[in-house]
Amino acid sequence: GKYIKPETTEVNGVLMTKIISDNWDNIWNFQAKSDDLLIASYAKSGTTWTQEIVDLIQNDGDVQRCQRANTFDRHPFIEWALPPPLNSGLELAKKMPSPRTMKTHLPVQLLPPSFWKENSKIIYVARNAKDCLVSYYHFSRMCKLVPHPGTWEEYIEAFKAGKLLWGSWYDHVKGWWNAKDQHPILYLFYEDIKEDPRREIQKILKFLEKEMPEEILNKIIYHTSFDIMKQNPMANYTTWPTNLMDQSISPFMRKGMPGDWKNHFTVAQNEEFDKDYQKKMAGTTLTFRTEI
Ligand code: PPS
Repeated sequence: GKYIKPETTEVNGVLMTKIISDNWDNIWNFQAKSDDLLIASYAKSGTTWTQEIVDLIQNDGDVQRCQRANTFDRHPFIEWALPPPLNSGLELAKKMPSPRTMKTHLPVQLLPPSFWKENSKIIYVARNAKDCLVSYYHFSRMCKLVPHPGTWEEYIEAFKAGKLLWGSWYDHVKGWWNAKDQHPILYLFYEDIKEDPRREIQKILKFLEKEMPEEILNKIIYHTSFDIMKQNPMANYTTWPTNLMDQSISPFMRKGMPGDWKNHFTVAQNEEFDKDYQKKMAGTTLTFRTEI
């Protein structure tokens, strides 16, 4: 508790910042449109990467055009609001001309119901729990808009208990997994994109009913690689003031590698994590690769 920077409170049992919960009625009543595209994920699962891929697809590989604004302004983050002069995601989304592409970290049960009613397309990206935890831990050390992570040991416990912003990773990935059978949701995995970006981008193209010449596809693969995105100021969050994100502590584009959890978990922590994981993920058909 004592290190927490932003005030947090729960919305239906899911931890949120107070900025989000105070605005909850507006968020819940957000009007989606049938031609909206929503990129959804648990935090630190490859959202920004997916956003960059989608933007390049929508702009036929025009790299310049995809640097028109930082990722946050290109794709409104619907539930999020920042201190002025930075924007509120909800206000940006309302002002944005259609067809809109937006971002959310909301768990499936908290998605504004108009998205279901309008049958809007959703791309969900999931990342294995341990790498997601590691990435979220480092992000929480440097981003002043989320609670301080505490010690590594404390953070593992908070992750397992789902006491992080946007709630439980386990509930999040399972909830969206179950929803994909009833709604137009393309469910992707971080590890798959890393392993074979061409194959995964082709899935996105099919989902968006778009075709693309091989040379543009190659260009997109190149410009959404970790090393190139890390250098892209419109994708790496370096346009944000250091009082919000201090990237000298840990960069937003940190490692971009499946399996980095092995550099963090002790053998005992890993065993305990796995035991708890089996319980929480029992009975689901959803499986993850923890390395590639
Ligand atoms: S956020 O703040 O929730 O939207 O963060 P998110 O974008 O979901 O996740 C950030 C992690 O994704 C990594 N990343 C990438 N990995 C591989 N290739 C590319 N192109 C790429 N772009 C972003 C980023 O480095 C964070 O992971 P870690 O493990 O911390 O490096």
